[in-house]
Amino acid sequence: MTSLDTRKKQKIFKELTTLQQRDFTFSSGRILGSMCTVPHPIAREIYQQFLETNLGDPELCPGTKEIEKRYIAFISKLLHAPASSAGQIVSGGTEGNITAMWIAKQLSGKKEILLPTSAHFSFQKIASLMDMRLTEVPVTKEYVMDINALKKKIRKTPAAVVGLAGSTELGTIDPLPEISDLCSEEHVFFHVDAAFGGFVIPFLKTLHYKVPAFDFSLKGVSSVSIDSHKMGYAAIPLGTIVIRRKQWLSTISVDSPYISSEKQTGILGTRSGAPVAAAYAIAQYLGFAGYTQMVRSCMDVTRYAQKRIEEIGLNLVVSPTMNVLGVKLKRPGVIVKKLSERGWRVNKVERLSCIRIVMMPQITKQIIDEFIPVLKKTCDEVGEL
Ligand SMILES: Cc1ncc(COP(=O)(O)O)c(C=O)c1O
Repeated sequence: MTSLDTRKKQKIFKELTTLQQRDFTFSSGRILGSMCTVPHPIAREIYQQFLETNLGDPELCPGTKEIEKRYIAFISKLLHAPASSAGQIVSGGTEGNITAMWIAKQLSGKKEILLPTSAHFSFQKIASLMDMRLTEVPVTKEYVMDINALKKKIRKTPAAVVGLAGSTELGTIDPLPEISDLCSEEHVFFHVDAAFGGFVIPFLKTLHYKVPAFDFSLKGVSSVSIDSHKMGYAAIPLGTIVIRRKQWLSTISVDSPYISSEKQTGILGTRSGAPVAAAYAIAQYLGFAGYTQMVRSCMDVTRYAQKRIEEIGLNLVVSPTMNVLGVKLKRPGVIVKKLSERGWRVNKVERLSCIRIVMMPQITKQIIDEFIPVLKKTCDEVGEL
């Protein structure tokens, strides 16, 4: 490198580092509202190693393709997927939901989606992109889909029903076994959005929490999407969608004349193998026992945070099902803004008049102890307490 090159490089690095310093970071422990996390050091290392791979042109990287196959097998096993199933790597929960609804529309030729009012906003994109119609099903006072309301609405046989295994706002789980039975009877495609809960519920079960079945062990479940870049401890962007029947993939496959494979399935073309390799590495490293320990610790911090929040006189919207707390406030937007000015990021949920706090693996009891006095002071100042 010439001295001119070195100076150029230093200048670019300086510019980028200065801008990066404006960012909140997961590692600082000050982001309390996000469902993403600091990637595990192993995921970080492997990510770099696989930066130049392109799984959109799979025969150029048969080794990375094999890693993808093994990762899909790991996820499929976690979700009790049958031998007839298939998996598709996606960039996250949004693409997982889009892919599921694309298949449901192709299979049924219909356009209506029945989904709880608590469903993720990605379904708004789906409606717009694929000219589909969203019919909302109300939720109960526990913030889960009202099964009786669904029974009335399903009669017109929609393209799909969506159930949540971990809602974005509160981490609640819809009555999935009942929805599954209903969808089986009515022969309706049933998609479970487990973007957040997919890497929590299996381990909660092992820890003897009372949680319903959410995956392919329910006969009526047609597809499940699960995000590794949320509770899977992997690097962004990575999710997987698993479908009950492999042949359904043909409904979202096209001929791909210019690349090494004859068909390309799903939405993306060129896509990096780095997040896939990183997620596989971390899954191998942690294994079921490691994830169970991670979830145990997140739930421990969740109970602690709940206690500390209630001690300062605030209430939760619902008792937590997983590591997500909704804290009731009169003016959540004002509190979120003030907390941000004080260096803490939490998410506001105006619809439920609350703020959302997610106890991701990097959030410790010590961080909660640092946060609570700031929350109290902020709430005192704006007359919440
Ligand atoms: C339940 C659920 N589904 C889908 C998504 C969208 O995921 P992504 O932002 O990874 O596309 C989220 C994001 O929080 C979510 O909570």
